[in-house]
Order: sequence, then C-alpha cells, then structure tokens
Amino acid sequence: MNIKKVLTMDYKNKTLSGPGKNEPKTNPIKANTNPIKANIMPKQTQYEPKQTQFQTKCTLCEFFLFSTFLCPKYNLPMQNWTIQKLLNWTTEYFAEKGIDAPRLSAELLLSHVLAMERIELYTQFDKPVDKEQLDRLHDLVKRAGQHEPICYLTGRTEFYSLQLEVSPDCMIPRPETELLVERAIEFLRTRAGTQFVCDLCTGCACIAVAIAKNSPDAKIIATDICDAALNVAANNIEKHRLKDRIKLICGDLFEPIVPQLDVEKFDLIVCNPPYVSAAEFEKLDKNVKDYEPRLALFAGVDGLDVYRRIIDKADRFLKPDGALILEIGYAQGPAIKDLLEKAETFVEIKIEKDFHDNDRIVTALRKSL
Ligand SMILES: C[S@@+](CC[C@H](N)C(=O)[O-])C[C@H]1O[C@@H](n2cnc3c(N)ncnc32)[C@H](O)[C@@H]1O
Repeated sequence: MNIKKVLTMDYKNKTLSGPGKNEPKTNPIKANTNPIKANIMPKQTQYEPKQTQFQTKCTLCEFFLFSTFLCPKYNLPMQNWTIQKLLNWTTEYFAEKGIDAPRLSAELLLSHVLAMERIELYTQFDKPVDKEQLDRLHDLVKRAGQHEPICYLTGRTEFYSLQLEVSPDCMIPRPETELLVERAIEFLRTRAGTQFVCDLCTGCACIAVAIAKNSPDAKIIATDICDAALNVAANNIEKHRLKDRIKLICGDLFEPIVPQLDVEKFDLIVCNPPYVSAAEFEKLDKNVKDYEPRLALFAGVDGLDVYRRIIDKADRFLKPDGALILEIGYAQGPAIKDLLEKAETFVEIKIEKDFHDNDRIVTALRKSL
C-alpha cells in the first residue's frame, strides 16, 4: 500500500477541502462476544424465539425443509417460500450455526434481498419470494452461516443512528465507539466558533460523519492509511452531504497533514486506532479475525503501538486546551494513562468505561500555555 498516495484517489474527488428501543441504537449484527476489539457487542436476546415443545418439533420439520432450501438443487414450488417461512427457517439455521442474534440476522438479510425495510417483512409475512430473490438469499445465508459478518453481506450498518456503507476494506463500526462520539460532541459544544477536528484512522468515517452531523461548526480532517477504506469513507461523506466539512487524506496517522495548508492546530483529535495485541488477535472471534481487516485490528505485541505514536505527536497538532479522545481496549486503561502522563503535556486524563464496564474511552486535555 502506498502510504503517500493521496491525490489521485476517487475519494479525493468526493470531498472538498477545508478543514432506536427494543432494538439497539446501532446494528448489533456486527456483534461478537469477544471482549477484545470494540469489542463486546451486546448479546441480542429479544429476537430469540422462546422454544416451546411444539415449536421445537416444528423447528425440526422446518429445519429439514430449510436444508432443502440450502441445497443448490432445491426445487420447491415458489409459493411455498413466503417471507414468514424463510424468516423462521433462516433464524433456525443461524441458531444452529451459532450466529449472534439469529432472528435479527435473518431479518436483515431477507430485507436486504427483498429491498424492504425490516418492518415491512412483518406486514407482508405471506408474500411469496421469487426464484431470483431466493437464489440470492441462499448465497447470503450460506456465507453468513460460515460467520461472514452480516454487515459485509448487506454492505451497510447503523452507527449513531446514521446509515453507513461498509465493506470488507474497513472495520464495522461498533456501538462502543458511539461513546467516543458522544464525548467529542460534548467537548465541541464548549468551544466557540469553527472547531477544527482531526479523526485519525477514520475507516468508513463513522466517527467523522457522526461528529459533523451533530456539531455544525466542526470542520474535520480524517486520515487513514488504507485508501480502499477511504473510498468507503468518501461514499458515506457524500451520502450525508458533508463534503464541504470533512476532508479525507490517505496516510500514516498525522503524516499526511500539512500544518498551515490543512489547518495549523486542532481543537480536538479523535481516534479509534487498531489496538489488538498479538495474543488477543489469536483469540478473536472467527467473524472478526477471518473477515475484518487485520490492518484495522492488530497493533503490535502489546496492542499499544499506535497509541505510542499518536501520544508522541498529539501535542504538536493540538491547540492549548484542545482535547485528545481515544478509544482503547478493555484492559488498556492503565497503560494509556501512563503513556499520557509520561508525555507531560496532558492534564485531566480520564478513563471511561463502556456499557459492559470495560475501559473504553480516554480523554485528555493539552496543557494551556
Ligand atoms: C479500528 S479501525 C477504526 C475505524 C473507524 N474509525 C471506526 O471507529 O470504526 C482502525 C483504522 O485505522 C487504520 N489504520 C491502521 N494503521 C494506520 C496508520 N498507521 N495510520 C492511519 N490509519 C491507520 C485502518 O486502516 C483502519 O481503518
């Protein structure tokens, strides 16, 4: 990958210069139970059908039929395959395969294939599904059964109540990262005038887009070392009409940012970097380890490589009293606090826990002059 490749990419053309209740707020389908990288997703239980004896028997029959559906040579009359039957069979299949939130996963795939909102599935339960749609569903269900993330199969996810495009080139945004966004928006509210924000390791630009949508005076520079991820970011920025407020640059952390040309110093630097250690990487769930980009996850033997480099340079890019807000791994709080204290340029260092009571967000202010 050419770190310095900046100007020729499509995403450049797409950005301009200048600096929900029964359901979780974000899409839980990216869920994994691994407490490592952004990390532990809430287990979705509300969609799991409670099994009665009768239902268990039906389920076995349905599972037989479903196996038939999964066989490439299936040849059942089309009118047999209604939305309701497919939802039930797919849910059962996913449960058997140990897929998180099987009902929700089934709904997301089916609504994707049928180009419907999930709610519409319930209003059209008896609608037959045609052969072409059934073929597409068949392929996606099989892949999901092999633990390919549903978000990659549908190409979209929800973050901070925003619909975003994702692809296997970028990590799937996690609900935990919304806490970082929340703190960033709160901080920006305390600053008057235009606020200059730097989002390092932007991926699909979930953080930048969520901040820009909620902080109308923020101008954001977002960097990532992976230009394929930045193409996805550009699509999200365009979709949310933020091209005039978010500029994408490809490169290694701060390296592509040219002070004076881009912006002299930032009010706020945010980053959700790769932070998985070598030992943790081996323990990641299959849906993460085999499908999400290693570049987005792995950060050296102790998982702190990228933090060291950010903390080493952050004060040069931050205004006095500016803030650094980082997402961190569940066990990294003390180590990151130590790194920030040793830098001797930060005050008010705070580690915050996520909704699973794991260390997740660190905030620190650059000393005033
Ligand atoms: C954990 S993902 C975060 C993506 C997104 N910000 C989010 O919160 O979902 C880390 C991102 O950092 C990028 N990355 C890894 N090393 C980098 C580096 N040295 N400089 C810039 N970006 C880097 C990866 O390509 C990946 O998109």
